[in-house]
Amino acid sequence: MWRRVLHLHLVFLILLSSSLGVDRGNFKACHQSSFCKRCRAVEPDKSVYVLHLNTLKIEDSVMSAEIQNTQNLVKFKFELFSLSDATFRMKINELSPLKPRYEVEHVLVGEPQLERLEVKERAAEYIIVSSGNIKAKIYGTPFRVDFYHGDSLAVTANAKGLMKFEHIRIKPESKDDGSEQPDNQVNDDTASDPGAWEENFKSHHDSKPNGPTAVALDFTFAGAHYAYGIPLHADSFALKSTKNGDPYRLFNLDVFEYELNNPMALYGSIPMLVAHGPSITSGVFWLNAAETWVDIEGTHDQNVMSSIVNFVSGSVRTPEVNAHFMSESGIIDVFFMLGPEPKNVVQQYAKLTGTTPLPPYFAIGYHQSRWNYNDQDDVRNVDAKFDEYNLPMDVMWLDIEHTDNKKYFTWDSRRFSQPAEMINNLTAKGRKLVAIVDPHVKRDNSYFLHNDAENNDFYIKNKDGKIYEGWCWPGSSSYPDFFNPAVRDYYKTRYLLENYHGSTLDMHIWNDMNEPSVFNGPEVTIPKDVLHFGGWENRDVHNQYGFMYTIATYEGLMARSNGKFRPFILTRAFFAGSQRYTAMWTGDNTADWGHLKISIPMCLSVSVAGYPFCGADVGGFFNNPNSELITRWYQAGAFQPFFRSHSHIDTKRREPWLFDDATLHHIREALNKRYALLPYIYTLFFEHEISGLPVMWPLWLEFPSETAVFAVDDEYLLGDSLLVHPVTSPGATEVTVYHPGVSEIWYDVDTYQKFEGGKHTKIPVTIDKIPVYQRGGKIIPKKERIRRASTLTLNDPFTLYVALNQNKTASGRLYMDDGETFEYKKGAYLYLSLEFAGNKLTSRKIKKEGSFSTKSWLERVVIMGIESGIKSAVVESKGTGKITVNTIYDNNSNVLVVRKPSINMAEEWSILLQ
Ligand code: GLC
Repeated sequence: MWRRVLHLHLVFLILLSSSLGVDRGNFKACHQSSFCKRCRAVEPDKSVYVLHLNTLKIEDSVMSAEIQNTQNLVKFKFELFSLSDATFRMKINELSPLKPRYEVEHVLVGEPQLERLEVKERAAEYIIVSSGNIKAKIYGTPFRVDFYHGDSLAVTANAKGLMKFEHIRIKPESKDDGSEQPDNQVNDDTASDPGAWEENFKSHHDSKPNGPTAVALDFTFAGAHYAYGIPLHADSFALKSTKNGDPYRLFNLDVFEYELNNPMALYGSIPMLVAHGPSITSGVFWLNAAETWVDIEGTHDQNVMSSIVNFVSGSVRTPEVNAHFMSESGIIDVFFMLGPEPKNVVQQYAKLTGTTPLPPYFAIGYHQSRWNYNDQDDVRNVDAKFDEYNLPMDVMWLDIEHTDNKKYFTWDSRRFSQPAEMINNLTAKGRKLVAIVDPHVKRDNSYFLHNDAENNDFYIKNKDGKIYEGWCWPGSSSYPDFFNPAVRDYYKTRYLLENYHGSTLDMHIWNDMNEPSVFNGPEVTIPKDVLHFGGWENRDVHNQYGFMYTIATYEGLMARSNGKFRPFILTRAFFAGSQRYTAMWTGDNTADWGHLKISIPMCLSVSVAGYPFCGADVGGFFNNPNSELITRWYQAGAFQPFFRSHSHIDTKRREPWLFDDATLHHIREALNKRYALLPYIYTLFFEHEISGLPVMWPLWLEFPSETAVFAVDDEYLLGDSLLVHPVTSPGATEVTVYHPGVSEIWYDVDTYQKFEGGKHTKIPVTIDKIPVYQRGGKIIPKKERIRRASTLTLNDPFTLYVALNQNKTASGRLYMDDGETFEYKKGAYLYLSLEFAGNKLTSRKIKKEGSFSTKSWLERVVIMGIESGIKSAVVESKGTGKITVNTIYDNNSNVLVVRKPSINMAEEWSILLQ
C-alpha cells in the first residue's frame, strides 16, 4: 500500500517539476501578483500621504496623529511608541475601517515596555520627539519620519514616498452596461486593476472578497553599505539590488528543487532586515504575516559608486540602502531598532520576539536521518553500525513512512511493531529518536484525528464555509486551524504519552510541510481565501500558520513531561517568534556544491533575524553526493548549529560506512571535531538565551567597521572565538581565508599556526582539512573523549584551549548543567569565567549561588602563543590545595601543555605558570 501512496506522491512531484530544478511557472513573480504590481508602481517623491501636525497628541509614551491620503481623503491613525533599548514602534491603520484589519498576534514576547516620549522641537513642517538617546523627526507634508540614534540619522520611513495603504472599501457595483462604477473613494489605481477584486493564477482562482488591502512603505538606511536578513531565500547573505528583477518574496511555500541565487520565497519568513555600515547599524521589523515582497536598492552596485567621489558635482555621496516592504493585507506595524552597534540591533530584535531556550544537549549533537529508515530492524542496525564504526551519533530520525499510511501519531504496525522497544534500545546507548508529525490530516473515517477534527470543527474552511480539502502525502487531506486555541489545546494532548502510543519521553518531534504544503493548491499551498479562526483569511495570516502549529507541538512536549524536560522540535515553516519553540533547517536542498556553499549565507540570514538554531541537510536532500561532496558537507555541517544528515527516499543509502574507508575516516574526524566542541557550542546556546546573540555570527557582528567583511559569504564566526571557513568547492587544493581584525591573531586549531588579522591568506587544503581558527585572546572548552553519544559525556573531563592575543591574555566562558531539564532555570548550573593574564589562568563562577555539582575535571590546558621558559605550573584550588604539575613546551608551535591539573570544574581555581 505504501508503495502505491509513494507512487502517487511521486506522480505529484513529477507534475510539479517537468525538469530538474525549480519549476518557476508554479510560483508567482511580482508581475503576476496584482498587489505587488500596484505597490511597485508607486512613483517615488510623489507621496499622497500627509500627517496633519495639528492633530498630534502625546500621552506619556505614545504619540498619535492623523494621516490622510490627499487623493481619496481616507484617514489613517498614526501612532509612535518609544520602547526600551533604542527602539521605536510605528503603527498606521485605518482611522475607521469598514471592518477590522488583522494585527499579528503571538509573535511578540509580551507587550513591549514603553519609554516616555518628549517633544524636543516643534516647527510648522515637523516635530521632533525624543526618548533617551533616540529621537524621531516627523514631517507632515509629505509624511516622513527620520529616526536617529544620538545625532546620527539611522532610518527614514517613507523616504522615497512609496507609502501605500489600500483602505477596505465596498466593491464597486457593476452597472447595467457591465462597466465597473467605482465610488468616489476608490478612484485610484485599484479601479483599473482587474486583479483588485479577484485574481487567477494557473488554474486557481482567488476570490478576494475584501478587495485590495495592500500596505507598503519604504525605508532608507543612511550610511548603510548593505542590508541582510528577511529570510528565507537561497541567496547571498548581503541582499542584492532587486532593481532589475523580482523583489525578495516572503511567503511560506514548499518549493520543489529550489534554485540558488534568487529572491524566490521559500519555506519560512522573517520580515526582519538589518542594515549595516561602518558607523551605524539599524534594523526594521515589519510585523505583518501576509504575503510580502521587499525591494532592495543601493547595495552592491551602488556601494561601489557611492563610496567614490562624484567628480561632476565634486561631492561624496554617502552610501545608503533602501528597502521597500509591500504586504497584501494587515496594517503597517514597524519596529525601528536603532542600534547603534550590530549586536545592539540583534539584541533589540531578540527583546521583541524572544530567544531560543537552551536546547537539550543531545540536540546539538549529530542527527542521522533519511526518508526513510525502513523498519525497526533497520533503525537497530544503523544504530549498531555507528558503534561498530566508532562514529558518535545522538539521534535517529523517522520520516513519514513510519506511520500507518501517513496518519500521524500512529505507527506502521508491520514495520514498527515495537516502537517503544526500538526507542528504548536507542536510549540505552544515550541516544534519542525524532519522529515526524505533519499538519495535514488524512481524510479517513477510521482515523481518530480526522474524526476528532471533524466532530470538533477543527478544520480550516473554504470561503463558502465547507471544510477545505487538499492533497498531500496521505492523499486527500484537511488542515487543522492552529489559530484556534481549542485546536492547539487538542494537539497538545495528542503528545501525552498515554495518547501517543509507542512514544516515550526520549522521542522528539519534527514538524514538516507546515507552510502548509498542498500539492494541488495554488503555489503548492492553501488558497488565500480560506478562513481561519476569528474570520481571518489565510491571506492575512499565511506566514504564521507553521509557527502556530509548532506552538501546539511545543506545548504538547512540555505537557507530556509536566514541564520537566526540554523539548526538541524541528520545523520547516517559520515566522518571527518561531525561534522560541523550534530549530529550523533549509529544507529540500540538493547534493551539489552550490547548495553546500549556500547553507552558510542561508543560516547567517536567519541568525541575524533572531533564529540561531539553523542547519541544512548534510549531503543534500535530492540526488547522491560523491565521496568528496559528502566529506566536505560533514565538515561544514559539523560547525553549523543544527547538524543532521538527511536524504530523499529515492537516493542511495549514504550512512558513512557505505563510502570508501578514507571518506568514512574523514566523516568520523568531522564528527569527532563536532563532539569535542559541544561544551563551547552549548555555552553559546546558553548565552544566546540570555543575551539574544546568535550562535553563527556574521563577521561584521564582531568587526563592524571592517568593510572587507561586509559581503563575506564563505566564512563566519562561531560565537566570538572561532572563525570557520569550510571548503565548499570540488577539487579544492587551497582556499582564501580572510582573518578579520587588524590587531588580531588567529591560530589554526589543528596545527596552531599563527595568522595575522586584517589579511587574506591562501590556505592549502587536503581533503581532511577544515579551515577553523581560534581567535587570540579567547579560551575554548572542549571534551575530547569521544563516546557513542553526547549524553554519555556529562562527567567527562575538559581540555581548555587558551589562545593568547598580543597582550598575552585570553578569556572565555563555560556553561554546564544537567543537559536535559529546566532545572537550570532555577539556578542548577555552572557558568564559569576563565581568564588568562600575567601567566595565570583562573576560573571564577559568574553566578555564585545555585546548585550544580559535576564530576567533570580539568584534564589538560593547551596554551597557544606563549613564550618558552615556563618550568612548572602551580595549581591551586580547595580540593587540590597547592600542587605543582607537569608542563610540556613545543618550541616549533609555541604551545605549552599543562598536564592533568585534575581540578574539579565546580571549584574556583587558578594555575600559575612559572
Ligand atoms: C519534505 C521534507 C523532507 C522530508 C519529506 C518527506 O520534502 O522537506 O525533509 O523527507 O518531506 O517527509
